[in-house]
Formats: sequence, C-alpha cells, structure tokens
Amino acid sequence: MVCYYTAGESHGPKLITILEGIPAGVQIQTDDIIQELAKRRLGVGRGDRQKFEKDVVRIVSGVIQGYTIGSPIAIEIENSEWHKWDKIMSPDPVNTNTFDNQAQPNMPESEKFDQLVRPRPGHADFEGILKYGFDTARNVLERASARETAARVAAGAIAKKFIEQVCKIRVDYEVLQFGTAKKQLTQSTEEFLNDCESVAQDAKKHGETIGGIVEVIAKNVPHGLGSYITAKTRLDAALSGAIMSIQAFKGVEIGDGFALANTYGTAAHDHIIYDQNGKVTRASNHAGGIEGGISNGMPVVVRAVVKPIPSIPGGLPSINIHTASQEKAHSQRSDISAVFPASVVASSMVAITLADFICKKFGQDSVEEIKSNFGAYQIRIQKFLKRGVDI
Ligand SMILES: Cc1cc2nc3c(=O)[nH]c(=O)nc-3n(C[C@H](O)[C@H](O)[C@H](O)COP(=O)(O)O)c2cc1C
Repeated sequence: MVCYYTAGESHGPKLITILEGIPAGVQIQTDDIIQELAKRRLGVGRGDRQKFEKDVVRIVSGVIQGYTIGSPIAIEIENSEWHKWDKIMSPDPVNTNTFDNQAQPNMPESEKFDQLVRPRPGHADFEGILKYGFDTARNVLERASARETAARVAAGAIAKKFIEQVCKIRVDYEVLQFGTAKKQLTQSTEEFLNDCESVAQDAKKHGETIGGIVEVIAKNVPHGLGSYITAKTRLDAALSGAIMSIQAFKGVEIGDGFALANTYGTAAHDHIIYDQNGKVTRASNHAGGIEGGISNGMPVVVRAVVKPIPSIPGGLPSINIHTASQEKAHSQRSDISAVFPASVVASSMVAITLADFICKKFGQDSVEEIKSNFGAYQIRIQKFLKRGVDI
C-alpha cells in the first residue's frame, strides 16, 4: 500500500525517491524534507563529506500547492559534487578503459580505479564483484553506499507529516549508545553528547570506527494497527524488516526485546489496568506497544544496533583481486560512525511502516476520509477503553 523506491548512486547526479500510496490532502512542503535531511547530516562522528555535499531537494510530482494529491510522490536530491564525477559516472561511454586514472583528473586519490581492486571487509565490495562480474568495486559501492539513506529520509519526512496529521503520531528517536558511551538516565543530552565526542576523538586517534544502539519511539499510535492473522500482517515483523533493511543495522528489538530472556513471565508482561480516571492503560510497556502483532495503544518502541563503519583508515586485511596478493583494503574518505545519522534513518523507516499500516486500517484516499474513519473507530472502541461508556 504505502511503499517507496529509491534510485541513484552515491556519486551520481542525484538520488530519486518515489513514494507511492500517500493519500491526498497531506500538508507538505519542500522545506519539511530539507529539514529532515539536515538532521541526517548532523551528529558526533560525521566527517568531511557531509560538509561538501549539500542536499538540494526538488519535489517533482504528487504535491501541488503544499498538499499531496494521492499520486506517486517523486523527489530528487541533487549531488552538488557531481561535476567531479560526471565522466566516471556518465551513463554514456566516455572512457572505455576501466583503469585509466586520468579519466577524471579531479577525482580524490582514494577513489582512483586501481584502488578499488582491494575490497573492504564489511562492505558489499567483494561479494558484489563476484555476484555481478565487475572488475572493481566501483559499480558495487556506488549503490551499496548508505548515501541511499538520504532518499529514504526524504520519503520518511512525508510519512511523518501524514501520520502526524491523521493520528497525531510523533516519531522520536535518539542514540542510546555510542561505542563505550551509554546514555545514563540521569544524564542530560549535552553530557551524553560530550561523552560521545570523547569516544569519537579517541577512536579517531586510534584509527578506529564506532557502532552503537539507536531507539525510535512512536507516540500516539492507535490501538489496532497490524494483526496476528498472517506473518505479513504483523506490525512488529514489518517494523523489524524495515529497520534491518537499512545499511549497517545488525539487530533489532521491540520493547524489552533481548532482555526478556532474563525476565520471569510475571514481570515480562504489561498488566491491563484502569487508571484513576477509569481509562484502560498498561502498568508498563515491556511489549513496546505491540501484542500479537497489533499495536496496543502504548508507545511503539524499537531499538536497533548499528555496526561500526567498515571503511577503516589504512584499510583492513584484504586481497588484491588483480594481482592475487594479500593487501590492505582500499580506504575511502569516511565518517567515524554512522550511529547518529542512522537514528534518523531508523525513524524514517518506522514512519513509513506506520503510514502503511494506518492506510491498511483506515483507508487510503484522502486525509479527510482517514480522519473520519479513525474518529468512528475511536468511538467504537471507547466502551472497552473507559469505564461507564455506553455506546
Ligand atoms: C547513515 C549511514 C551512513 C553510513 N556512512 C558510512 C560511511 O561513511 N563509510 C562507510 O564505510 N560505511 C558507512 N555506512 C555503513 C555502510 O553503509 C555499511 O557498512 C554497508 O552497507 C555494509 O553493511 P551491511 O552489509 O550491513 O549493509 C553508513 C551506514 C549508514 C546507515
């Protein structure tokens, strides 16, 4: 129903997102997308590339006069560095010799063709070369690169607006762990960021990269999104798949997740209680807002682990696929960590998934219709959610 496609290479002229299934009537402007993309560029451990490449965004279809019209929404994100890559990345043949380093004289040294025959462990480089029959990692890394996540964040910006406008859902996100720096309950954000900065400086000094844990919390998610009826209709399964589809994500948990392995059953579940106003609520949220694949009205909590960036300064042990010798992998200009930008990408994937499930439950034509269906549903379930309501 709500789905997105992305196209584009890391050093190509632009990234393209097509977001399909967003109903008519969502209020959205180009600036909303620019603001989301800006968040992806910030955070501890980001490097030079973020300073070079500014996101120039254009909505090409599906939005007129500040409102979606129900048709596919196409968004372009320009690559301002394209002039440095126009020959190598040209769709039409410019230079047929793969190993001619002069083909694009202003290309960074680390990107020269003969560097890319030493695949980086932890990236798609080697397996991509084998699978698609390429001579170097160029054609692999161009698409496998997480630059693609900018296109996802653009789609997520629209999904966030949609779910906020129909159900007041807010998708918050934060970094819980950055290498050895763990966010303490008593710590202010500033204190935690200072800890992260120290960890990043230390990693830089030692030529290291850093992974971590991110958390996404969606508030005001109504009861009833998703279902136990099939594997495909479960909200928890869809959220996990969406998160695991992001580059470098290696694990995901909903609610207390892995910690439930150490918890007795009496303490693992969320008692159903009436609060002092006679409204049904839960005494806790171990389930992370989802039971039996259905949202239960509590905040939806998704946590996930991001691996350390595999482009290590100096390169990890690898091979040269042309000389068949044991060498260090090529090392590209890279960040120290992807954890902070990854938290923004994770929130985008959660928003897109929730947008899809809202349309499945409440309809897909227009914001007005969805609001009306949502309102009628809220009234129908009231008698179960509040003592003494008679409908
Ligand atoms: C937002 C984001 C930014 C990333 N930036 C870099 C980077 O600058 N350098 C790098 O080597 N890997 C970076 N990565 C990680 C690679 O994309 C990832 O390691 C690669 O896709 C292979 O991991 P996978 O097999 O889990 O997809 C980034 C990942 C994300 C989510």
